[in-house]
Amino acid sequence: MRILLLSLLCLIPICAAPPQGGGGPKNLKLLKPEDLRAGIMHVYTVSLGVQCNFCHVQDRASDENPHKNIARHMIEITRDINSKFSDGKEHVTCFTCHRGAQEPLTVAPPAQ
Ligand code: HEC
Ligand code: HEC
Repeated sequence: MRILLLSLLCLIPICAAPPQGGGGPKNLKLLKPEDLRAGIMHVYTVSLGVQCNFCHVQDRASDENPHKNIARHMIEITRDINSKFSDGKEHVTCFTCHRGAQEPLTVAPPAQ
């Protein structure tokens, strides 16, 4: 009985310890850590023709730069469009609309 009590007491600090003090992403609402490792942020910069600081302040986990939440909304729009294709493939990406520009064109550029 005494031994059981002692071993129960020993378990408490282990349970109270935080899960992991790792340096992984802290503020992902839509993406998975795998997406970051696969280079999705570089896909965004190339697709919009911008640098990281277009959407981020120095602390990448911060939501202070308003473009970051616009980008989240865009991720949802893109997922929504893709969900309407019946084959489950990713047909539409950021690049499909943006083509290297911050704001996609809505009309064809004038002929030369
Ligand atoms: C078009 C906007 C955009 C650009 C450009 C962009 N990011 Fe992001 N980034 C986001 C969004 C949106 C999230 C949050 C996604 C979510 O909530 O799932 C994010 C999340 C991150 C995170 C995770 C932060 C955390 O701890 O939660 C890192 C790291 C990051 N970006 C790095 C970069 C780097 C490095 C670049 C440049 C190569 C870059 N980003 C360019 C929009 C952008
Ligand atoms: C279906 C077309 C479409 C797709 C796909 C799309 N966007 Fe957009 N995006 C737009 C349009 C249109 C605007 C301009 C909206 C406006 O003016 O309010 C825009 C604007 C933005 C802006 C704001 C730019 C600025 O100048 O303030 C960001 C950031 C952005 N998109 C990121 C993304 C990211 C990241 C993806 C991929 C996850 C993406 N977009 C996919 C159509 C698209």
